Amino acid sequence: MAEIRIGHSQVYAEQLGLGANAVDGHNLFSNLEDAVGKQVVRTALDNGINLIDTAYAYGNGRSEELIGEVLKEKDYDRSRIMIATKAAHVPNEKRTFDNSPEFLKQSVENALRRLQTDYIDIFYIHFPDESTPKNEAVAALHELKEAGKIRAVGVSNFSLEQLKEANQDGYVDVVEDKFSLIHRSAEKELFPYLEQNKISFVPYFPLASGLLTGKYQLGQEKQFSEGDPRRNNPDFQGERFETILQAVDQLRPIANKYEASVAQLVLAWYMKHPRISVVIPGAKKPEQVAANAKSLDIHLSNEDYQEIDRLFQGF
Ligand SMILES: NC(=O)c1ccc[n+]([C@@H]2O[C@H](COP(=O)([O-])OP(=O)(O)OC[C@H]3O[C@@H](n4cnc5c(N)ncnc54)[C@H](OP(=O)(O)O)[C@@H]3O)[C@@H](O)[C@H]2O)c1
Repeated sequence: MAEIRIGHSQVYAEQLGLGANAVDGHNLFSNLEDAVGKQVVRTALDNGINLIDTAYAYGNGRSEELIGEVLKEKDYDRSRIMIATKAAHVPNEKRTFDNSPEFLKQSVENALRRLQTDYIDIFYIHFPDESTPKNEAVAALHELKEAGKIRAVGVSNFSLEQLKEANQDGYVDVVEDKFSLIHRSAEKELFPYLEQNKISFVPYFPLASGLLTGKYQLGQEKQFSEGDPRRNNPDFQGERFETILQAVDQLRPIANKYEASVAQLVLAWYMKHPRISVVIPGAKKPEQVAANAKSLDIHLSNEDYQEIDRLFQGF
């Protein structure tokens, strides 16, 4: 499979990555175990996935630490593995963000230490803060890029206006934002600007937190435990939940044609999307990663790509 260039950088990645927010993201999900998280990472690397997407915010650094431990334990070729991480969360504060150059530079140093590596392939500003001029925040990352500490500059959760301010000097290589078959606003809001400026796009929540895997059944709304982000997610409730599952049901015959699961079909759809660079499904179990990796073998026809697009146009 062809590798994709990230923005104007020298980072080239396969189109399928691993989202590592459940690799000890104990502040996001309950019942996570370190050993399982590490096995999720190993399974990805052993199955042709070469980009791991993590963040300080996933377990307050624990996700980065576990990934660093896995990378050290075997003869993995570091030059073939792309590590993407992010920062902006102020430690011990709830949803307080800092994008000041000092904070970002210190965050990169801290991430390098936790990941036990000399460079980070993609470093994102995880969320915009309220006071730092966006171009100054990105200029700080550009300096780190020139110093060889990071290889590509990213921003995440920026509005189009914030992105334009951040990219005044043309330093942004990649944007990570919410996008899936059922959350398509980025197509109109962001994609034209990204295309004009040769900025790569990495969608998060590609499986809509599991809803697009085909494992949920109509009429069986699921209750999530206290603290689980899906508990209050409107996608998992009422009429919207039913509408989504009706659309997902229509994917089953298409998936059958490829002898694939619904999740694999959906991932293959993103990989054929001209504006999507890398798709980063998360996983709680190694089996999920191994299954998702098989989407790399699906060669979706143009007709099926368009049919899936059509089925989800209403979202
Ligand atoms: N930049 C940002 O602000 C931001 C925000 C959110 C996420 N992200 C990144 O995006 C990544 C993806 O988001 P996400 O992991 O939250 O959501 P997602 O990729 O939409 O869904 C992942 C979840 O779906 C389920 N799943 C995955 N593969 C499966 C399979 N083959 N069969 C059945 N179930 C399967 C698992 O949950 P269950 O087993 O519990 O169902 C897994 O945790 C994250 O890991 C993170 O790296 C970034």
